[in-house]
Parts: sequence; C-alpha cells; structure tokens
Amino acid sequence: MDNDGDGGNPFREDDLNARRFAEPCNLVIFGATGDLTHRKLIPALYNIAIDGELPAGLKVIGFARRDKSDEVFREGLRELNEKVSRQGHDEAAWEQFSQNIHYHQSTFTDEAGYDALRERLDAIEAEGGSGNRLFYIASAPEFFDDILLNLKKSGLNTAPNGWARVIVEKPFGTDLATAKHLNEVVNETFEEADTYRIDHYLGKETAQNIMVLRFANSILELLWNNRFIDHVQITCAEHLGMEGGRGGYYDKSGALRDMVQNHLLQLVSLIAMEPPADLSADGVRDEKVKVLKSLRAFDTVDKVAENVVRAQYTNGTVAGDEVVGYRQEDRVNPESETESYVALRLLIDNWRWADVPFYVRMGKRLPKKATEISIHFKKPPGVLFNAMDQGGENPGNVLVIRIQPNEGISLGICSKRPGANVRIQPVKMDFRYQTAFGKSSPEAYERLLLDAIAGDATLFARKDEVEEAWKFIDYIEDAWHQSEEPPAMAEYPAGSWGPIESDDLLGEDGRKWRRL
Ligand code: BG6
Repeated sequence: MDNDGDGGNPFREDDLNARRFAEPCNLVIFGATGDLTHRKLIPALYNIAIDGELPAGLKVIGFARRDKSDEVFREGLRELNEKVSRQGHDEAAWEQFSQNIHYHQSTFTDEAGYDALRERLDAIEAEGGSGNRLFYIASAPEFFDDILLNLKKSGLNTAPNGWARVIVEKPFGTDLATAKHLNEVVNETFEEADTYRIDHYLGKETAQNIMVLRFANSILELLWNNRFIDHVQITCAEHLGMEGGRGGYYDKSGALRDMVQNHLLQLVSLIAMEPPADLSADGVRDEKVKVLKSLRAFDTVDKVAENVVRAQYTNGTVAGDEVVGYRQEDRVNPESETESYVALRLLIDNWRWADVPFYVRMGKRLPKKATEISIHFKKPPGVLFNAMDQGGENPGNVLVIRIQPNEGISLGICSKRPGANVRIQPVKMDFRYQTAFGKSSPEAYERLLLDAIAGDATLFARKDEVEEAWKFIDYIEDAWHQSEEPPAMAEYPAGSWGPIESDDLLGEDGRKWRRL
C-alpha cells in the first residue's frame, strides 16, 4: 500500500479500484464516548460495512475516560446508529459489525493507558490481526497535544509491521499561532504524509463533484474566469441555534472560526483553483493553497469594516417555533461579542479572478438548512432580449451547485415562452443526484474514513492550507477583538436571512443575495 499520501485519487479508474481494497487496520478513536463518534463515525463505518467496503478484520477501539465494558459501549453506539444510520439499522448486520468494536479505558494524559493500548494492539497482531494503526483524534481540542505526545512516548506513532496514520478533527487551532503549534506537535509525532486533517465539507459528494464539473467538462472551464463570471456567492445557512449545550463551544468560536476558516474557504478554493498538474493529493492541494495565498488580506480595521459583516440573532421564529436570541441561549455569555452570522466580500488577486468578488455568508438560525454555491455569469449585452416577460431584468445565467440538501447542479437560462409573441422567461436545467443515480449519497465521513484507511489524503487539509486560512482569518478576528474601534456587531431576527448590513454589502456593488 502506498504510504506517501499521494497514492490514490478519487477520479482515476485504477486508483478507484485500488481504493476498494483498502487494507484492514486497527482504528483507535480518542474521545469515543463523544457525540461525533456516536452520531457520525460509527454510523459511517456501519454504512461502509453495509456497502461491503469495510476491509475485513478492521477493528475499532474506542479510547475514553469513563469506565465501560465493550458491551455497554456497543449498546450506546447501537442506540444512536438506530436513529441516524443513512441506510437504516439492521440488527443482524449490526451484531456482526459491532463484534469488532472494543473499548479501552484511560484518561488522555495517563501514559500507562497508552502503553496498555500498545500491548493490546501488539496482541491483536500476534493473533494474526492487522499491524496497521489509524488514530482518530476526536476528543475535546485541549487534549490534542497530550494525545499526540503520548502516542509518541509510547511508540504508537510507528507500526513495526504496517503503517501508522493520524486523523485530526477540527478545530485545528483557534488562530494562526495555535494552528502552527499544533502542526509542530503533529509533525513531531507523524510524518505529514501520514497526517489527515479532517474537513468534513471536502467529503460531501457535491463538494467532490466541483472538480469533476470543472475539469471533466470543457464548456465550463472556458468560461470560468473574470471575462465571463460576474461574481460568485456561497451560502451556508443553518436553522439550528445553540441546542444541546453547543453554546459553550460556539461562544468561544463564532461563525468565522467555526465555519469560514475551514469549510467555506475550502469551497472557495475548489471553485477558484487552477487545474492541478495531476490528481494526486499534493497536486490538488498545491493549487488550493495558491488560492488562499491570493486572497486579498483585510489587514486594516477599515478593510474589515468595508468587507465583512458580523451579526448576532435576536429572538424570532424559525419553522413556526419561537426561539430566543443568541445572547439568551444556554451557555452563551449574555454580553457575548461572538458572531452567529458572518458575510464577507472576498477578492482573489490573481489573473483568473481579478475583480470578481466572492460573496460568502454563513449563519445560525436562518430560515432553513441549505448550502449552495452560485456562479453568476455576466449578462449579455442588453440590446435584443433584455426585458423579461414578468418585468425585471434578464438575471443572466446562474450555475447553482447545491451542496445540501437536494444535492445537484442547475443552470438558469433564458427561454422563449411558447406563443406567437417573443416573451422571455428564466428557466432551469436541473440535475439531481437522487434522480440521476437513484440512491442517496454517502455521508462525508464515510468517504473520508475510507480514504484515510486507503492512504489517500486528497480530501484532507494540508499543513500550509490550514495556516494560510488562519492567516486570512486572524486579520478579521484582530480587527473585531483587538482594535480600539472594532467594526460594529449587527443584528438579525432569528428566522430571517440575516442582517440588512449583509444585503448592503452586495447592494453597494449593485448586486443581491440569491434567494435560496
Ligand atoms: C461543523 C460546525 O463543523 O459543521 C457546526 O462546527 C456546523 O457549527 C456543522 O453546524 C455543519 O455541518 P453540516 O455537514 O451539517 O453542514
């Protein structure tokens, strides 16, 4: 098995086939009693097993502090799997799958717990099991350093008869300095090529399709530049607020760090990148990192005030339910200065994108959950068919990539309405995954876990990508929290599409947010 992080790629037939034969390994999950393990990781592994793609002999070892037997651990996982599994829950299949799940009790700081883990892995190998080791760090972030250092001390960071890799969950730092520090600790423990920094947006089927859409279709790439594209919009709307005690984490993070630094900048990179030299992990990531380096820095408070809107929701109604404002949420400081919404006007200073703004917004407690990217092409000269049938202007062609839900791609075009007169109306050419392929897409974590097992790092963030993204974000956070006259915090009622200031950000440029 190739172990340089460059071996596979998602698009070539031969590599796809190689991926299906991912080797068995021992997957150790740190933070195994947490929500992520229960809601995402185990259901993802279960679904991979149902699809017959889980390497036989793969063992899962949950590492966590609480005292539990294998049976109690499995029962807790089963309960959640029943609720959330994409393909439903089949008791017989679960029984078989869960026989390979075990529990290892230890605190993250106790060296003896890691030595015991090593002995356990050695014993599995001695009994004919796999010698490959995959560590998934899904604990609270304050333990990331301890876990990595202890893996090194106990010698678990190498595998005498196989490979050793690490997956690191978000948040990868809280600013550039902490991300650099974490990168140092990771790199002291594992080779960069064995390091998989997860960003689950990269595992979403439609996000992966962006490269195929762009580079496997000749008509789009010809138009994919500032001669033909007027601007790009990316919206990530969520109807949820701070349910389930989430406010404790979120209030220290905010929309910019929680979603923009990682998920949204990754989407920007995929839309804006140049065609890579090849589809290797580094080939793709080299191009993505160039986009991040070309982002115009908002390196003064004025630039932040001009290009970024931050806001908090006030009380309102979402899906018919009355909800409280952000500052009244559980575990949120009543005087909090943390944003639950952010909108940005990004500029990418390179030849392809000069003068094409990328408007990006994300918010909690918006009317619905929807993530989409829209590419707004320049309008045709308004000499022949400018006036629309129902009044208004020709909206121009808009290519919409729906990341979730109803994954698909649509193209807005203008058409003549049937009849003797020339009456023009915008219509849509629509492609839906569900209709075209007749099945639901795998969850992001399914794809990413399989890739890490197979040694394919293409859909994981590289060290320099994470640092470049933080560099950009830090200017904004500094302007908000360190400057003497920070840009104002706007407000929006829960259940609305965000603050008026966000509409103004586009309004100043003569544009509007697309209605989702
Ligand atoms: C997480 C954020 O990374 O992504 C959450 O921490 C957010 O705040 C979530 O809700 C959104 O993910 P998805 O896949 O539901 O769009």
